[in-house]
Amino acid sequence: MGLLIKNIRCLVQTEDHPRKQICGSEMAKLNAIPDAFLFIEDEKIKDFGIMKDIPPEYQLSGHVQHKIIDATGRIVFPSFCDPHTHLVYAGSRETEFTDKIKGLSYVEIAKRGGGILNSAKLLQKTSENELFDQSMVRVNEIICLGTGAVEIKSGYGLTTTDELKILRVIRRIKESSPIEVKATFLGAHAVPEEYKNDREKYVDLVINEMIPVVASEELADYIDVFCDNGFFTAEDTERILMAGLKYGLTAKLHANELDYSGGVQIGVKYNALSVDHLECTGDDEINELKGTGTMPTLLPASAFFLGLPDPPARKIIDAGLPVALASDYNPGSAPSGNMKLIMSLGCIRLKMLPEEVINAVTINSAYAMGLSDTHGSIVRGKVANVFITKEIPSYDFMPYAFGSNLVETVILNGKLID
Ligand code: NIG
Ligand code: FE
Repeated sequence: MGLLIKNIRCLVQTEDHPRKQICGSEMAKLNAIPDAFLFIEDEKIKDFGIMKDIPPEYQLSGHVQHKIIDATGRIVFPSFCDPHTHLVYAGSRETEFTDKIKGLSYVEIAKRGGGILNSAKLLQKTSENELFDQSMVRVNEIICLGTGAVEIKSGYGLTTTDELKILRVIRRIKESSPIEVKATFLGAHAVPEEYKNDREKYVDLVINEMIPVVASEELADYIDVFCDNGFFTAEDTERILMAGLKYGLTAKLHANELDYSGGVQIGVKYNALSVDHLECTGDDEINELKGTGTMPTLLPASAFFLGLPDPPARKIIDAGLPVALASDYNPGSAPSGNMKLIMSLGCIRLKMLPEEVINAVTINSAYAMGLSDTHGSIVRGKVANVFITKEIPSYDFMPYAFGSNLVETVILNGKLID
C-alpha cells in the first residue's frame, strides 16, 4: 500500500540530481514545485511531480488501496535534520536562567560549579530508565515540531559509567523511536570538579578509558570536544580527536563559541564532518574552511539565549561556503529543539534568506550528520520523512510566523505519526 499526498500547494526541496551540500550563492536558490503530488511506498519516496502529470495508478482504489491525503493549501517539506543536540539530560537549569538575567555570564556560572557540571551532578543521580523517559518526552516533542533526524551527544556524564549511560539511552531512542538518530561521544564537554587542577588527567581518562569502551560497544558514530576558553584547549582537542580516529570516530566539534579557540583549524586538520557554534569566526577561520568537507554549523538559539554575538553567517555564505543550522537542544544554552524557531532566528538574527535557512535545516544539516544519501530532500529513493504544514500562503511564512507551530501532519519512514 502506498501513501499519496495530493494537491500540495508547494512541495519544497525536491531534487532530480541530489546534492551533498549547497554552498555560497546557491544557498539562496530552492527547488519547489507548485500544485504538486508526492507518492510514498515501502518507507521511501517513490515519486513526485505536478498534479496534472500524476500517474492514475497512484489514485487507485479497489484491490490496491492507497491512502490518500488531500493537502490543499498546505506545503510539504522534507523533515528537518537537526545535527547538534544534547537532548539526553536530566532535569533542567532554569535557576541559572534567572542568574543570567541578574547579570552572571555563562562562564561565571560554569566556574561556580553550575552549568554543565550542575547537569552532570543531576544526571549521575538519575537512573538509565528515568533518563530515557525524560529524554523521550523531548524526542516526541521535536518529532511533532517536524524533526525527522537528530544527532544527540553525551557529555553530561563526565565519568565512564555515566557517559556510557547516556550513550545507551541514545541507543534505546534509536531502537524505539521512528526518528533517525546519530550518536556522538562528548566525554570532553567540561572538566569535572575533581580534575579542576589536573585537566590533562581527565583528558587521559577520556582517551585511555572512555573512548576504547565507547568504541568497543559501538555506542557512537562521532566524537566531539568542547574546544573553547575555560573548557578544553586546542592541544587537548587534538589529542582526543587523534585517539577517536584510531577507533574510526569522525569528529564533530564545538568550536569558537566563546573565543577564537583554534577549534576550527583543528577540526579542518582532522577532517571533522562539522565545526559547530562559530560565534568567534574571522577571515582565518573562513579561509581554513574553504575547499574542505567540514560543514560550518551554526546554532543561533544558543547565541540568542546566552546573549552572545551572533555567528557571521553572511560572511561565511558570501565566502562561498555552505552553512547548516542546528538547535543545540540542551538545558544550559538552548532549552528548545524547535527547528522552525531556528529557521526564524537564522533569518532574523543571522540575516539569512528563507531559502538559505531551508537549505541549512535540510540538505546541509543532513550532511552535517552524515545522512546526505538518505535524508534532507525530496528525492526518489530517499527515506520518506516529510511533514505537511497547516494552510499557509508560502514557504517564507514558516520562518516569518516565528511563534506559531505550523506543522500539522508528520510522516516518518512513510508512516503517519499520531
Ligand atoms: O553547545 N557549548 C557547550 N555545550 C552546550 C551547552 C551545554 C550546557 O550549558 O549545558 C552548547 O551550548
Ligand atoms: Fe552544543
